[in-house]
Amino acid sequence: MEAMTMANIVRPENMERITTIEQANAFIDEQIAALRKQIGDKKVLLALSGGVDSSVVAALLIKAVGKQLICVHVNHGLLRKGEPEQVIRVFKDEMDANLIYVDAVDRFLDKLAGVSDPEQKRKIIGSEFIDVFAEEARKLDGIEFLAQGTIWPDIVESEKGIKAHHNAGGLPDDLEFELVEPVLTLFKDEVRVVGKALGLPDNMVYRQPFPGPGLGVRCTGAITRDRLEAVRESDAILREEFANNGLAGKVWQYFTIVPDYRSTGIKDGKRSYEWPVIIRAVNTRDAMTATVENIPFELLQKITNRIITEVPGVNRVLYDMTPKPTGTIEWE
Ligand code: XMP
Repeated sequence: MEAMTMANIVRPENMERITTIEQANAFIDEQIAALRKQIGDKKVLLALSGGVDSSVVAALLIKAVGKQLICVHVNHGLLRKGEPEQVIRVFKDEMDANLIYVDAVDRFLDKLAGVSDPEQKRKIIGSEFIDVFAEEARKLDGIEFLAQGTIWPDIVESEKGIKAHHNAGGLPDDLEFELVEPVLTLFKDEVRVVGKALGLPDNMVYRQPFPGPGLGVRCTGAITRDRLEAVRESDAILREEFANNGLAGKVWQYFTIVPDYRSTGIKDGKRSYEWPVIIRAVNTRDAMTATVENIPFELLQKITNRIITEVPGVNRVLYDMTPKPTGTIEWE
């Protein structure tokens, strides 16, 4: 399946970079016509994570073929606060999409229980995701196409051997679909302009990168539900404060980590023995190297105060001052 799409794909040399809504609208019109021609009256399946690429693909396909598109949103329990709800609100309620919501939280967290090795955790999350998606696909009749949010850098990086083209393939052999990849020739910034033109909300279109294994790599070691909640709640506070203080569009990536060890502190006049929250905020061009954001000290103090008072189980906040290298952006 992978080879099928990757052979002979070129971004047209004279293709103008999409920077304006007018250009995006022209691209959307072209793609709608092409999608209708490719798909006809058949059905298309899409794994809709809520990230920019899959959301733009969903919105394009809804415009082109409406209810012939079936979106599957798998909630693996490792999404940020409010994300599954937003996917349902935007796509099911506002766009009237055919959306299957799969609550797979227990399934993922049970499989991950007691697993502390980072690579093992990633493997479990990846393979469980395929299993859940394949199970949903098998329940459906008459699907001929699989839509994917593959973008141009995925193709280029695969060809250079930098990373495997993570979007393509992976499904078991009995599920053979023809691929539909309407944003294949676009760079990320162009996908965002197209998303804006399609009317997707800004917090979806201008979303910071988020790893496939989600909060799982930020709840280091063996994931527990209470510590995962501490990651999710502290991340939500950080995002809210960055948004309120003009940093959300400026800083490339920012999030929190909750490691699997505790330290002594004092809460309500009593000894506490709780987790630290680590803040990470970095800037980069290509994620190969990164520098640390100079967050104003007063803002760091405000975020710290909110986290230690609002997040259960946390008594300490740290700021990760490490550039990449030597630290990677994620902790696992
Ligand atoms: P690192 O931690 O390697 O991260 O410095 C570089 C960028 O890649 C993101 N990242 C991932 N993205 N699946 C993804 O889709 C993954 O498994 C994954 N691991 C890291 C990370 O968030 C950062 O933007």
